[in-house]
Amino acid sequence: MPKFQDFIASYAFDKRLAWYDAVGSIAHVRMLKKCGIISSSDEKKIIKGLESIIKDAEKGKLPPAQEDIHYAVEKELIRRIGPVGGKMHTARSRNDQVALDLRLYLRDEIIRLADLLNALQQELVSAAEKNIGAVMPGYTHLQPAQPVLFSHHLLAYAWMFQRDKERFSDCYDRVNVLPLGSAALAGTSFKIDRNFTAKLLGFASVSENSMDSVSDRDFAAEFLSCASIAMMHLSRLSEELIVWSSAEFGFVRLADEFTSGSSIMPQKRNPDVAEIIRGKSGRVYGNQTALLSILKGLPLTYNRDLQEDKPPVFDTVDTLSSCLEVTAAMLASLKINPGRMLSAAQNGYMGATELADYLARKGIPFREAHGVVKNLVSYCVSSGKVFEDLNAAELKRFSPVFSSEVLKLVLPESIVRTKTSYGGTALPSVKLQIRKLKKLCFQK
Ligand code: ARG
Repeated sequence: MPKFQDFIASYAFDKRLAWYDAVGSIAHVRMLKKCGIISSSDEKKIIKGLESIIKDAEKGKLPPAQEDIHYAVEKELIRRIGPVGGKMHTARSRNDQVALDLRLYLRDEIIRLADLLNALQQELVSAAEKNIGAVMPGYTHLQPAQPVLFSHHLLAYAWMFQRDKERFSDCYDRVNVLPLGSAALAGTSFKIDRNFTAKLLGFASVSENSMDSVSDRDFAAEFLSCASIAMMHLSRLSEELIVWSSAEFGFVRLADEFTSGSSIMPQKRNPDVAEIIRGKSGRVYGNQTALLSILKGLPLTYNRDLQEDKPPVFDTVDTLSSCLEVTAAMLASLKINPGRMLSAAQNGYMGATELADYLARKGIPFREAHGVVKNLVSYCVSSGKVFEDLNAAELKRFSPVFSSEVLKLVLPESIVRTKTSYGGTALPSVKLQIRKLKKLCFQK
């Protein structure tokens, strides 16, 4: 059994907030002085002490362990400057302090994660540009459906990560609200100036209700939700890389450092890195579920359960960061095999929709045209033929409207060329996406 004091302590994980705790306290102390609550000489001593603690923290030297980082910083301050350090905690509680620290921390991490998302988008856009001509099968139900440009497929992910960036940016706006000055739960009788503290710390606004501010962790739940969605995207991309790099597909080759061998099967190049990213998505969803479960059923206002908010948040920051970095590196070193992609796009009767569209353009109701081509496909399958093997007479048996010119339409490259609708896979529309994404992720 851990001792009671060890059991309730959070220093082991919230020491990560040391820098933010001291920075938040400097702003608080400046506000106390401005409002005439502490003297200018006390303010100077406290700030000097806090600045020396910050310098140490930046070098990795943290204040010695206490129950939590807030007590640790305060105790260390008093050790360095004497009892005057105790004035720092005037008109404040650890309840509004911890909410402040977590918000300050998340603001920075959100910006860092958005930069990593951006770097990943840049890799996707570069890979799309580099491999612009490659044609591959597009899938539904993981069955070949219609040929697409490989670049179009990659850019789908670039758009997902664009939405992730936007989601994090929205989340930032709700993180960027000052809770400090709510004190324990009811506010304070000291004549404080919360707007002044907010300005010093760069918050866009101050929270409106002291009870809400000390018990609110919506911003953290929202952060975890944004992170979960981003992890889901990374997981799907990883799954594609796993499938594409399999011997059966052979569309891509992952660089050696992203694969590992088997201890028994010498021929293996397993996509472990992509699999771990796929697996880590489950871990991040778990973190989100953990926080929501912690919050569910908590009466207002602060309850010590809230201390359990930090491990899932920290773990998510670390996990998402490393997955974003690794994915970007994996894409940068990816080699593609356009020949394998094209030959896969030639099999599977992916021109079937084109043939039906051809009949529909000649006035046959699409539903009927669909049936004609379905019969044609069955015939090809049973006679071991692909569309290109058919002659005019065979085609006409299925519909008199067919002529052999139609066979040109079913080449994968020709099919791709026809998909000129906005957002489609034809080259001009993919190039337009590249231009747009470059504006979104290369010029900031
Ligand atoms: N370590 C605590 C936490 O993370 C700080 C707040 C403690 N407040 C209290 N009333 N016990 O939530």
